[in-house]
Amino acid sequence: MSEKEFPDRNLAFDLVRVTEAAALASARWLGKGDKNAGDGAAVDAMRMSFNSLPIQGRVVIGEGEKDKAPMLFNGETIGNGTGPRLDIAVDPVEGTNLLALGRPNAISVVGAAPEGSMFNPGPSFYMKKLVVGSAARNVVDLDAPVAVNLQNIAKALGKDVTDLVVFVLEKPRHQQLIRDIRKAGARIQLNTDGDVAGALMAIDEHSEIDVMMGTGGTPEGVLAACAIKSSGGVLLARLDPQSETEKRAIIDAGIDLRQILDENTLVRSDDVLFAATGISGGTFLRGVKYLGQGAVTHSLLIRGKTGTVRYVEAHHNWNKLMKISPIPYDC
Ligand code: FBP
Repeated sequence: MSEKEFPDRNLAFDLVRVTEAAALASARWLGKGDKNAGDGAAVDAMRMSFNSLPIQGRVVIGEGEKDKAPMLFNGETIGNGTGPRLDIAVDPVEGTNLLALGRPNAISVVGAAPEGSMFNPGPSFYMKKLVVGSAARNVVDLDAPVAVNLQNIAKALGKDVTDLVVFVLEKPRHQQLIRDIRKAGARIQLNTDGDVAGALMAIDEHSEIDVMMGTGGTPEGVLAACAIKSSGGVLLARLDPQSETEKRAIIDAGIDLRQILDENTLVRSDDVLFAATGISGGTFLRGVKYLGQGAVTHSLLIRGKTGTVRYVEAHHNWNKLMKISPIPYDC
């Protein structure tokens, strides 16, 4: 297959079917208080959808080990065994608590890139991240004081620091970060979960979020990098183990804890594809709306090679879909 055609451009649309399937299956669990059931439904639907695709995929970023949730396993092969060899990043439900509690911005997410091009986080669970849009590309420094970064970002965006909104995960580890942001004069949007959506909102000029700061999941960092690399924006990161066991495992795996990673080191190919579908709805993507005989989904689809960003509104019809799909969407 020539470099020009790789990965097949229609694959981008196949990938959005995968996140739609996971969202349609898992949104049945919205607000039911059972995060593993919602995640499990998404994992099963996602695996079934992937296995109908003409790819030889290997899951490099599989989510779930951190909290023993249902998962697509790291190293698992997916696809029908024909077609391009791809590294696959998945998060069938990004924000399992958000789904279980019926809170905004639970999404289903996948990334795909040529084999060998995605950063393998090994035993790392947590990563410190700083995400901004491309206008602030040259002014951010992961090691600079929070106030300095915010002043430089504001200047690059032609704003005052007091105009900025920073997305931060509401976690005990972020108490000092929150104090520093407030002291600098910027505003904060605190979210209990969901820093892939946070990262994508930070690079979206239509979103009220200007910056994302703080420590979240390493797999989520690689997934966000798939989108950021494709559509512009900057992600600076460094592994940030949250326990001695995690730190020791990373060192034993020979991974340099000091290394600064960015969207280009996390995904080393421009041929990256990214798809996300809203599950619970919110400020990032609208959620699944069931209609009795069908449902409506809203997705984001990004193709790195061309930088094309598509928003896809899909109307699903159970009567027709259930004749060909093994996934029981209609129950
Ligand atoms: P899950 O979907 O696995 O629940 O992850 C949600 C999430 O909030 C991510 O967006 C974030 O990167 C990570 O968890 C943060 O981890 P923790 O909740 O352990 O601080």
